[in-house]
Amino acid sequence: MNEQGRVRPGQHRDDAAILTLEELFPGDRMSMRSVRHFLKSPSARTWVAELEGAVVGNLILLTRRSSRVARIYSVVVAPPARGRRFAERLIRAAEAEAQALGLKQIKLEVRADNAAARALYAKLGYVEDEALPGYYEDGADGLRLCHTFGHEPAAPAPESLPSPAERR
Ligand SMILES: CC(C)(COP(=O)(O)OP(=O)(O)OC[C@H]1O[C@@H](n2cnc3c(N)ncnc32)[C@H](O)[C@@H]1OP(=O)(O)O)[C@@H](O)C(=O)NCCC(=O)NCCS
Repeated sequence: MNEQGRVRPGQHRDDAAILTLEELFPGDRMSMRSVRHFLKSPSARTWVAELEGAVVGNLILLTRRSSRVARIYSVVVAPPARGRRFAERLIRAAEAEAQALGLKQIKLEVRADNAAARALYAKLGYVEDEALPGYYEDGADGLRLCHTFGHEPAAPAPESLPSPAERR
């Protein structure tokens, strides 16, 4: 394995490593039952970052059959492995999958005071969708961010364009 590490889909055998990573989050902890559920649920997709054989990061993406919007439920990288673009690579993997599924947007919630995560998402083109005052259990404010694939404003259909005369 090279020192860049790699990102791959999560597998059942990654459950303990993912749980350990999720414990890095303050507040509500994920149970082993939830981790296993995500690893096998058709409406969840997980990726892990692996460095020198160890799982050092993970991302959980949730989808709903009735919706073209996916949600990044969790992304976390172990402190010693941070700064190696693992989070970026995990998010890119999730985006590629969401696009392959024909989805149009990814949303997520982030603590307003999480500067690292906000910088990460800003770099990757996520924009604020909604302010979530007092969203977290400890009363901290949240933000809902979204990333729309090909988010450049679509060109109007030719028939809806005003004629040159109308434009004047
Ligand atoms: C946020 C987190 C996932 C970033 O993981 P990471 O693998 O270190 O991030 P990357 O190396 O992929 O960084 C990609 C970009 O994010 C931004 N970024 C990441 N960490 C940052 C930091 N501490 N300060 C400022 N910007 C940061 C930078 O723009 C960086 O791009 P650059 O390398 O060109 O500067 C990691 O710090 C973490 O696990 N934090 C705790 C859990 C968490 O907050 N998850 C997000 C909740 S929504």
